[in-house]
Amino acid sequence: MPNDRFLKACRKEAVDTTPIWLMRQAGRFLPEYRALRARHGFLEVCKTPELAVRATLQPVLRLGVDAAILFSDILILVEAMGVPLEFREHQGPVLGGGVKDLRDVAALRAPDPTADMGFTLEAIRILRRELSGQVPLIGFCGLPFTLACYVVEGGKSKDFKKLRALMREAPQVYAALMDKLTAAVGDYAGAQLDAGAQAIQLFDTWAGVLEPAEYEASVLPYTERVASALRGRGAPVIHFTQDCRRLLPHLRRLPVDVLSIDWRVGLDEAAQAVGPGFVLQGNLDPETLLKSVPEVEAAAAEVMRRGRAAGGHIFNLGHGILPATDPQTAAALVEAVHRLGRGS
Ligand code: CP3
Repeated sequence: MPNDRFLKACRKEAVDTTPIWLMRQAGRFLPEYRALRARHGFLEVCKTPELAVRATLQPVLRLGVDAAILFSDILILVEAMGVPLEFREHQGPVLGGGVKDLRDVAALRAPDPTADMGFTLEAIRILRRELSGQVPLIGFCGLPFTLACYVVEGGKSKDFKKLRALMREAPQVYAALMDKLTAAVGDYAGAQLDAGAQAIQLFDTWAGVLEPAEYEASVLPYTERVASALRGRGAPVIHFTQDCRRLLPHLRRLPVDVLSIDWRVGLDEAAQAVGPGFVLQGNLDPETLLKSVPEVEAAAAEVMRRGRAAGGHIFNLGHGILPATDPQTAAALVEAVHRLGRGS
């Protein structure tokens, strides 16, 4: 029987139990992923359809989650725009360039998804065949603001000082960059849907560093453009940002189906802030998965209790799964959520 409870929950249809998947479920906590990475570089896995397919399927096979998420990275798009990209051990992504003026923005290419990211689209097509309806496939993109963070800072940053300075002191450069990223994200996410992705998660991981008024003026309009174009295509759209509490009064205006909530705010509080209609995804603290199975089950039950205040609930972590997580604990969480969600 095909398992479509994730898609049903996105659309607020009745489900037999609470669906669950885990952000970064394909990753270093799985020994089979580490074995793959011992032989292949991270970007090589992203860009080789057969390897990306294998990494995508690993957590589906092992954990019994209700959705697969394409194995890739939000920065693949930025590289396709001409920004040199490297992943360094213990340092994360390092990007060349450091966009600072209109010339730099003009030098960014408008990528053609088929020509420049065909490997991802091919991985999606293979995955749909291999999954053959067992679970749905989620595609994803970074949103313009979070991509701009990397493009301007050149890598990870605590406070995104350069980007915030650009926003304030060179608004025309910021707007030109955001326009270009918005078009590229829309095209790329649309191409993922064309290739067979059944839902799209939009990551705006770093938007939570902004003041709500800054978010409203300088980020929301771009996210709205991306989300409404995708939603017009009929596939569920999920929005994630870390540290979302203060932004919730603005996030409720986004044309998306699901809001993915980080672990710093209770789902009941989030439901109250966005209104009763929204389906919420989340939001177990990833650190909880380092504890014992009974503690994980108790914490999951509490997340589910709070989640009842929402228009619907898709269980997930509040951010990516930690590499130190025991895969058996993750599998126990999936089992517990399915058990607890039956009849609730
Ligand atoms: O969720 C999944 O399983 C799908 C795959 C996925 C990855 N990255 C694989 C990955 C997804 C959805 C992402 C999104 C992503 N990438 C985001 C937004 C989501 C979030 O976590 O907030 C961001 C900000 C990035 C950029 C990025 N990629 C960073 C900062 C890092 C380094 C941090 C780290 O964990 O090493 C990456 C690397 C990365 N992306 C890995 C994986 C599995 C680890 C690479 C490795 O194998 O060494």
